[in-house]
Amino acid sequence: MSRIAIYPGSFDPVTFGHLDIMQRASQTVDELVVAVLENHAKIALFSVEERVKMLKIITKDYPNVRVESFHGLLVDFAREQGAGFIIRGLRAITDFDYELQMAQTNRIMAPGVDTIFFATNLEYAYLSSTTVREVASYGGDITKFVPESVARAVEEKIRDRYS
Ligand code: COA
Repeated sequence: MSRIAIYPGSFDPVTFGHLDIMQRASQTVDELVVAVLENHAKIALFSVEERVKMLKIITKDYPNVRVESFHGLLVDFAREQGAGFIIRGLRAITDFDYELQMAQTNRIMAPGVDTIFFATNLEYAYLSSTTVREVASYGGDITKFVPESVARAVEEKIRDRYS
């Protein structure tokens, strides 16, 4: 049976930290579905469609990575995709409580779906999409945090929003 995993997130925008997790996770499963969530708890810079488009561009060279969007419960989407695993990155101990709670809740709702945690590369342990948006909003250089195509999209979006 093929091992399919979902890597869910807001990806607003995707960062090198996410990309690092995607690279490593895609090497451990047969297929990795990167799933963009419309998260109503967060005010988004990019629409879900724009985030999917950016993710497709930066993962185009990974043959077993597919990008989708979803709404509703993550475990329902995982079942729909035939996925047995959810991938999450842990950046620091501060992520742990929330992630453990989510993993355990998901496991009660869907016992056939397990969460696998990847320790985020130290280089990106400080990074978040909010930081990237904030640096860009003050005109800072974000090319150390996100791929070139994403940096251009963020800068353009911020220019449009504040002009
Ligand atoms: N490197 C850099 N940054 C990282 C990272 C990494 N490896 N891993 C996470 N982050 C950052 C993200 O950029 C994001 O930053 P932000 O808060 O500034 O946007 C933050 O850490 C965490 O966000 P993300 O990983 O995108 O998750 P999320 O909290 O937005 O969403 C879901 C998590 C999608 C898994 C969860 O909300 C979900 O499953 N929702 C569906 C509804 C559901 O099933 N709920 C029940 C769950 S119990």
